[in-house]
Amino acid sequence: MGIQALFALFGGYLSFPDFQEVVMEQLSKAAKLKDGTAVTIRALSKQDGPALLAFFKALPKDDRLFLKEDVTRKEVIERWLEEDDFDKVFPIVAEKDSRIIGDATLHLNKYGWQRNMAEIRCVVAKKFQQKGLGTLLMKELVAYADKKGVTKITAKMMDTQVAAQNAFRRLGFKKEYELKDFVVDITGKPHRLVIMVNDVVDLWKTMEDLLIYSDMNTGN
Ligand SMILES: CC(C)(COP(=O)(O)OP(=O)(O)OC[C@H]1O[C@@H](n2cnc3c(N)ncnc32)[C@H](O)[C@@H]1OP(=O)(O)O)[C@@H](O)C(=O)NCCC(=O)NCCS
Repeated sequence: MGIQALFALFGGYLSFPDFQEVVMEQLSKAAKLKDGTAVTIRALSKQDGPALLAFFKALPKDDRLFLKEDVTRKEVIERWLEEDDFDKVFPIVAEKDSRIIGDATLHLNKYGWQRNMAEIRCVVAKKFQQKGLGTLLMKELVAYADKKGVTKITAKMMDTQVAAQNAFRRLGFKKEYELKDFVVDITGKPHRLVIMVNDVVDLWKTMEDLLIYSDMNTGN
């Protein structure tokens, strides 16, 4: 009996976990930062609303300048949690002692001529910056991008986000475009938009070298 016939017989009775559930279960990994701090990297879950809101509210204003929405508003976070489509946005967080200390998302294009491209957004709590957490989070996003057939990753930021540009450059991203007076920060001030790009294959290699200290059982 073929698979289709079997499914026709039992399909109504068996329940298969969907792709998203499998990804969420698999992606919960213990890792260590450069200073030895133990963290967990995992997919964002629907229960994370209050912790995610607390994380964004505690960010210094400068680190929120680049965010496209006002993440200090509960409605914005609730809408993100409802969207729940990993083919569109793949959201992960870093957690320490039940508190979120980092958030990163991969924004995919399901169809069309940009489907080989995805955009990374990443923000780490000030106290945990420059300890390798951004790289750990990005590594998970790059692994997911690779699984989804993405070949090019972009990161967008404003000209004033010098630290972020340094961090992305360190990972091998190159500044491809700079568009003058193209974006405005949350105070309304115009800025140049910087678009940095990297190949998934090159990015993966750089990260493997950078994360030797992390002990992370990536399984990727
Ligand atoms: C960008 C950001 C996510 C990087 O996170 P992070 O955890 O500090 O990054 P890592 O510790 O993994 O650093 C990666 C590399 O970038 C370098 N780097 C990080 N912050 C840096 C800074 N402020 N200045 C210079 N280099 C920096 C690190 O030195 C590291 O290289 P190394 O391994 O040689 O030391 C973090 O700075 C942040 O949240 N910034 C505010 C939000 C933002 O601007 N996001 C970018 C738009 S997507």
